[in-house]
Amino acid sequence: MSAKLGNNDAQPSPTLILAIESSCDDTSAAVLRGNVVLSNIVAGQAVHSKYGGVVPELASRAHQQHIVPVVQQALAEAGIDKSALSAIAFTVGPGLMGSLLVGASFAKTMALGLRIPLLAVNHMQAHILAHFIQSENDPPQFPFLCLTVSGGHTQIVRVDAPNRMTVLGKTIDDAAGEAFDKAAKVLGLGYPGGPMIDQLAQQGNDQRFAFATPKVEGCDYSFSGVKTSFLYLVQKELRANPNFVTKNLADICASYQRHVVAYLLTVMQRAISETKVKSIALAGGVSANSKLRHEFALLAEKNGCTAHIPPFAYCTDNAAMIGMAGHFQFINEEWASQSTVPQPRLVF
Ligand code: KG4
Ligand code: ZN
Repeated sequence: MSAKLGNNDAQPSPTLILAIESSCDDTSAAVLRGNVVLSNIVAGQAVHSKYGGVVPELASRAHQQHIVPVVQQALAEAGIDKSALSAIAFTVGPGLMGSLLVGASFAKTMALGLRIPLLAVNHMQAHILAHFIQSENDPPQFPFLCLTVSGGHTQIVRVDAPNRMTVLGKTIDDAAGEAFDKAAKVLGLGYPGGPMIDQLAQQGNDQRFAFATPKVEGCDYSFSGVKTSFLYLVQKELRANPNFVTKNLADICASYQRHVVAYLLTVMQRAISETKVKSIALAGGVSANSKLRHEFALLAEKNGCTAHIPPFAYCTDNAAMIGMAGHFQFINEEWASQSTVPQPRLVF
C-alpha cells in the first residue's frame, strides 16, 4: 500500500466507516469519512477506580450498557444515517474476552442487518495507525519506528506500510502503563494512575529518588524490577516515617516518571541506532505522558529524526483509531466474516 493513502493531502474518500472499540474499559464509537473523523465518542467506566484496576466482569457489563447509546451518539454527532455506512470496523483483539465480545457481537449484528462489510482490527496496530487520522500534524513517512506504550503492551514496532509491521522488541513482563498504574496504587492514588502521577510530577523534584534499571538485551523491555524497586523504596521509607508518601508525593512521582521515561527512551535509542530509520512515532495511552512527549521530541532532534506525537484524543483508547485502521483494511479488501471470533492475545 502506498504511503500516500494516509497523507493529509490525499483525496477525501467517500468511504464511511462506523468503528467500535471495546477491548478494555472504554466503550467508544466513531464515524470516519476516509481519514477524517466525523465523531469520536468515548464512555469511560468509573466503576473500576475503587478496585485499583479493571475488573473484567464489570467491564463487559458496562460495555453492554454503553454500546447502544455510544453508537447512536456517534452517528448523530457525525450527522450520518446508518444506511449511508460503507462498513463496520471493530476491535478483534488483543483485550479482555468479555469486553471484546460485546463490541464484536454488536458490530457483526449491525453489519449483517445493514448488509455491509465487517472489518476486524488489531487494537495495537490501530494505536499506531492513529497517526494517519487527519489532524494538524503531518503523518509519519514510511518506514518509521513506533514506540507503542499502553496499559497492557510496550513495543517498538517498525512500520513499513499500514499492513506491514514488525515488532523489534517488547516487554518481557509488565507494560509501561502497568508500571505507572501499580506505582500509583502503592501511593494510594486511584486507577488509572498514569495521568495522576503525570500531574503530581509537575511540582516535584525528579532527582530525589533512584530506582532499578533493568538490563535486557536488544530492543526488549522489562518493568517488573522497576516496579519492585519502587515498592521497596516506599516500604523502607514508610518504616522510618509513616508520613513519607504524603510529605514527598510530588518528588516520588517526578523521580519515578523521569526514571520510566528515561528507560523507555534508552531502548528506543538502541532501535534508532540499529535501524537508522529517520522517522519516529509514539502511540498508546502512555503517550499522553507530558514528560515522555517532551523527551521523545528531544530524542528525535538528537538523532536528526522527525518526531510524531499523537494528539491527546488519540493516545488513550478510542474508536477513531479503529476506524482509521479499518479504512486501510477496506482499501485492501481485508474483510472479516460473521464467524470471526475475538482474540484476547492477538499479536501482529
Ligand atoms: O492505550 P490505553 O488507553 O489502554 C490500553 O490499551 O491499555 O492505555 C492506558 C494506559 C494506562 O496504564 C494509563 O495509566 C496510561 O495509559 N496513561 C498514562 C497517562 N495517560 C494514560 N500514563 C502516564 N502518563 C499519562 N499522562
Ligand atoms: Zn490501547
